[in-house]
Amino acid sequence: MKESTVYNCTIIELDKHHHEKGNISVVENNETIPFGVQRTYYLYDIPGGESRGGHAHKELQQLIIAASGSFSVTVDDGNVKRTFLLNRPYQGLLIVPGIWRELYDFSSGSVCLVLASHKYEEADYIRSYEEFLEYKRI
Ligand code: TYD
Repeated sequence: MKESTVYNCTIIELDKHHHEKGNISVVENNETIPFGVQRTYYLYDIPGGESRGGHAHKELQQLIIAASGSFSVTVDDGNVKRTFLLNRPYQGLLIVPGIWRELYDFSSGSVCLVLASHKYEEADYIRSYEEFLEYKRI
């Protein structure tokens, strides 16, 4: 989506069911998030100082959750950048298509859970920042 902006990327507050034995947060397709989940993956054992992302997607929507620990996400639409600190397992960052993202400052032992609207497709990635800027300008 060429017209998307970082202001379309928002924190979604998930409901939090509190139990004495622990908490539960829930994500429901097309209710909590504006898409249906086709794929779930998670990043873990991330070495200190490492960054992830460094790409955009043409169609993919994602909800990114710090299931454990914390990390920062910078989103960039080619004009404006916004940085979100994710450090609550009951909050998710919605990233719409056409947004460059960087994930960094992972705390030790953190887990980044990603709910995605489509299956893995390398053709959906834009991995060059120059190409991304051209894509957004057209
Ligand atoms: P990538 O999305 O580039 O990583 P990140 O954004 O977390 O830095 O994925 C890294 C590699 O993992 C990619 O080259 C192929 C593989 N991969 C899959 O095979 N399936 C998937 O669903 C994902 C997300 C990645």
